[in-house]
Amino acid sequence: MAANLVPHGIRRLGVLGAGQMGMGIALVSALRAKVPVLLYDRSPEQVTKGFSLVDKLLLKDVNKGRITSEEAKEARDRIQVVGQEAALQGMRDADMVVEAVSENLGLKQKIFAELGRVCSDKTILASNTSSISITKIASSVIPEGVAASSEVGKKAAERVVGLHFFNPVPVMKLVELISALQTSPDTLERSRSFAVACGKTVTVSKDVPGFVSNALLMPFLNEAIMHLEKGVATRDDIDTTLKLGMAHPMGPLQLADFIGLDTCLAIQQTLYEGTEMVDAGWLGRKSGKGFYEYD
Ligand code: CAA
Repeated sequence: MAANLVPHGIRRLGVLGAGQMGMGIALVSALRAKVPVLLYDRSPEQVTKGFSLVDKLLLKDVNKGRITSEEAKEARDRIQVVGQEAALQGMRDADMVVEAVSENLGLKQKIFAELGRVCSDKTILASNTSSISITKIASSVIPEGVAASSEVGKKAAERVVGLHFFNPVPVMKLVELISALQTSPDTLERSRSFAVACGKTVTVSKDVPGFVSNALLMPFLNEAIMHLEKGVATRDDIDTTLKLGMAHPMGPLQLADFIGLDTCLAIQQTLYEGTEMVDAGWLGRKSGKGFYEYD
């Protein structure tokens, strides 16, 4: 298909991080959206582990008659693993880069600052974060010494968006799209169109801590843990109540384990922090932009 016929315009995707989320995103992008993917992870063991799951999932789809073995091979071949140097080079030509590393603001800011330096200002820079402020992440792509309110500053930050996939990515039908204060409508629409091409339904959330999904899910998981601590019911009775009484696929305690208790904790810590215009570098008169704009 000619590039200009693809509504999202993503002809090449970069994925940073080959954990459960990054690998899943690489798979649905290659299989469903049929986009070539450059995948980078600093751990080669992680990549090997991820690929063995991808092979297993593709084989299952072939065995169930959902895809042909040629389609499986084409999807597999679309994912190219690259080392650090090639990743930096490759991301330069990507139309979108999705970051799926661990939930650590400092790490994400470092990565986005680097992406801001190497990528074209047309490249969409997306984070798969579950709760960290996209507005804060967007600020980190603005080159040092450049005002957030300047044309260069705005252009740098407007291509940043939250693209929140759910685990397991090939199974979960949702992508939550998060618009930072700086995100442009074009970035948002192209990202939405790309997620749809990956076979997902898209919801949009403002950039509040935890967005819609985790702002609602985490208090629920916490309540389940507190009920266990208080001895209101056993682990199994809490999970069975929600599974059979409310048709949840997993009980809350099982789900907390599935997400990872460390990830749950990291998300909950960010729920305590507010998301402010300050995160965007919009500090008021002194920065040229606050509620008003200043020359
Ligand atoms: N990766 C890919 N596919 C997987 C998988 C994995 N890790 N685990 C299971 N699957 C697939 C299976 O291959 C199977 O696919 P087919 O239908 O094509 O055969 C399908 O899922 C069902 O699997 P099973 O029959 O083995 O098991 P199940 O019926 O118990 O379903 C489950 C497993 C899909 C994980 C289900 O229990 C479920 O939906 N759990 C809730 C998951 C959930 O809530 N995820 C969101 C977590 S929150 C999050 O991710 C975001 C965040 O910000 C924290």
